[in-house]
Amino acid sequence: MNVYDSEQIAARLAALGYQQTGILEIADLVIVNTCTIRAKAEQKAFSFLGRLAGLKIKKPGLIIGVGGCVAQQEGEKILRRVPHIDLVFGTQAIDRLPLLIPKIEDKRCRIVDVALTEKSDQPAAFSDRRLDGSVSSFVTIMRGCDNFCTYCVVPHVRGRETSRHPDHILEEIRGLVQSGVKEVTLLGQNVNSYGKKEGLCSFPELLSCVNSIEGLLRIRFTTSHPKDFGSDLINALKTTEKVCDHIHLPVQSGSDRILKRMNRKYTRALYLDKIMELKDTCPGIAVTSDIIVGFPGETEADFNETMDLMKMVEFDGLFAFVYSDRPNAPAVQFKNKISEEKKIKRLQTLLELQENFTRMKNQAQVGSVQPILVEGISKKQSSGSVNRPQPTVQWTGRTSTNKIVNFFHNDNPQNCADIFPGKIVRTKIEKAYAHSLWGKPVEVKSASAGLKGEESYAA
Ligand code: 5AD
Ligand code: SF4
Repeated sequence: MNVYDSEQIAARLAALGYQQTGILEIADLVIVNTCTIRAKAEQKAFSFLGRLAGLKIKKPGLIIGVGGCVAQQEGEKILRRVPHIDLVFGTQAIDRLPLLIPKIEDKRCRIVDVALTEKSDQPAAFSDRRLDGSVSSFVTIMRGCDNFCTYCVVPHVRGRETSRHPDHILEEIRGLVQSGVKEVTLLGQNVNSYGKKEGLCSFPELLSCVNSIEGLLRIRFTTSHPKDFGSDLINALKTTEKVCDHIHLPVQSGSDRILKRMNRKYTRALYLDKIMELKDTCPGIAVTSDIIVGFPGETEADFNETMDLMKMVEFDGLFAFVYSDRPNAPAVQFKNKISEEKKIKRLQTLLELQENFTRMKNQAQVGSVQPILVEGISKKQSSGSVNRPQPTVQWTGRTSTNKIVNFFHNDNPQNCADIFPGKIVRTKIEKAYAHSLWGKPVEVKSASAGLKGEESYAA
């Protein structure tokens, strides 16, 4: 979400005549877009802001702004804590940047704008980021959250849930596709409740509209809330051609007692039922999740229930976090906090278990032929550590199930000239690693047919 917001910030600054630079030292204006989902993210933001003091000393005319969730949460306290900051703007103030920045340029005043209201939806501003040739883009379809999970800061810093109008979303995606984007990830805290409050279309209906955009090859989305995840979306996953074979469905805990204290509004049994229906309807779909360990009051028995649920589901990937207190979140007041030591130990135990599943899921792909959307030159090659004579290009892309696949360009002599970012390349998976797969291209797709999932097994 912050990547998307940063693009929106960049687009508004471009309209004021600013150009992006990758070199901090030559910037006239620095905007730090912050996250406060966990305590560590907030600490990182403040330590980065602190380090900018030296820049301001060297260049007194420099304007430094702080946006995002830390800005929303801390407001003018930031001006006191970080004296070299000129602007604090909240999560709903991005649209007002074209007014705020010129004021600071003219008057050299310090401004705080963290007003949070029910926001009216605007068509998004476009940044010129697509000139870098990126094939995948985020598109926010909803802002805010109404769920109030007891550990979570989001409803307090991003306000109430609001869905963007489908016309604005579709117009934005068409624009992105025109500038070369082939894949979009639709973003919301709970996409399953898209449009309900405003009486717009349902999320599966939105998916169907996005699916009909010509030139777009793949659709991803995040995040689904298990309490609202139902058969309509499961069927849409199966039938909507461009929707990828992957779902991120955060479970947070496998213990009913903890789920209740988290205010998640579903039980372990309901979650498992939904996973079963999903896997029955969409065999081969990848499932990933988020889990918090060390929530206040979590006993060894609760933790073991989470481990047990992981064994039942066998997630393809997992984001696991140690619980941290967040301002205004009700769990701050909860008793029986778990020690840092115990939290870290539980995290390690859980990650060790998950590693086996991730490796197993990757290994299961070996021998299959998968359509890969080529994203660019792989990191390994761009850092120069690949042990093949240049100019053999090592490309990187993803399967529909969101697994990273790397391969050599020249391994497909017939039509390797047609391999470039944005192309779908059918790739035979040869090796599995802990976090990626290695493949060999067998065919470059000319049409967008067969974009979903696995196509065939060689053995
Ligand atoms: N402590 C730890 N993890 C948290 N998350 C959200 N709030 C907290 C918190 N206070 C995790 C949840 C969520 C993910 C984005 O971050 O797992 O799904
Ligand atoms: Fe936070 Fe819960 Fe909303 Fe997700 S659904 S953003 S965890 S309050």
